[in-house]
Amino acid sequence: MRKDINYFESPGEHNTDKVIELVRRRKDELGIETIVVASVSGKTGLKVAEEIDDARIVSITHHAGFREKGKLELDPSFEEKLKKKGVVTYSGTHALSGVGRGISNKFGGSTPVEIIAETLRMFSQGIKVCVEITIMAADAGLIPMDSEIIAIGGTAKGVDTAVVLKAAHMNNFFDLRIHEIIAMPRP
Ligand SMILES: Cc1cc2nc3c(=O)[nH]c(=O)nc-3n(C[C@H](O)[C@H](O)[C@H](O)COP(=O)(O)O)c2cc1C
Repeated sequence: MRKDINYFESPGEHNTDKVIELVRRRKDELGIETIVVASVSGKTGLKVAEEIDDARIVSITHHAGFREKGKLELDPSFEEKLKKKGVVTYSGTHALSGVGRGISNKFGGSTPVEIIAETLRMFSQGIKVCVEITIMAADAGLIPMDSEIIAIGGTAKGVDTAVVLKAAHMNNFFDLRIHEIIAMPRP
């Protein structure tokens, strides 16, 4: 099998529209029905929903307290529009930091799960994010476990990375399979 990977010249939000275009194309080719996207504010989740209306879209935010105790960063205006579009928005414990972040913040060092995260970042921030949000969505019971899905992530804002994968739950983390990279930043 031969297929193309779209490599972006730089990471970041400016790649968002192209990623969504590539995801739409590959979704149609493979008949994929579920897309998981990282969207802190809801902005990118909404963009995906506006461009792709024939898939189940799950939009994942940062956990409450990521920036400020007790606060979600989800923008209420995007939240409302996402609801109207039938997008499921989910906020939960980050699968690739979790309580481990609390341990390393207090005692220093790194927990094994944070080392997994850093290893995935050797591809791109977005690859780590794709894996993390897929586990989070799987553990919330929001995505199919026996068919391929597409995950979309990025570098701080917007998206620059997309993969085709088969999900796993956190208790079988290493069963997760990344089948294809659709796009990622090259640097
Ligand atoms: C659970 C979660 C974890 C994330 N982790 C990272 C990360 O490790 N590195 C990074 O650059 N961005 C990270 N992000 C940001 C996303 O990759 C993406 O750029 C962002 O959610 C887009 O949000 P927006 O729609 O508000 O622009 C994370 C987002 C979420 C929801």
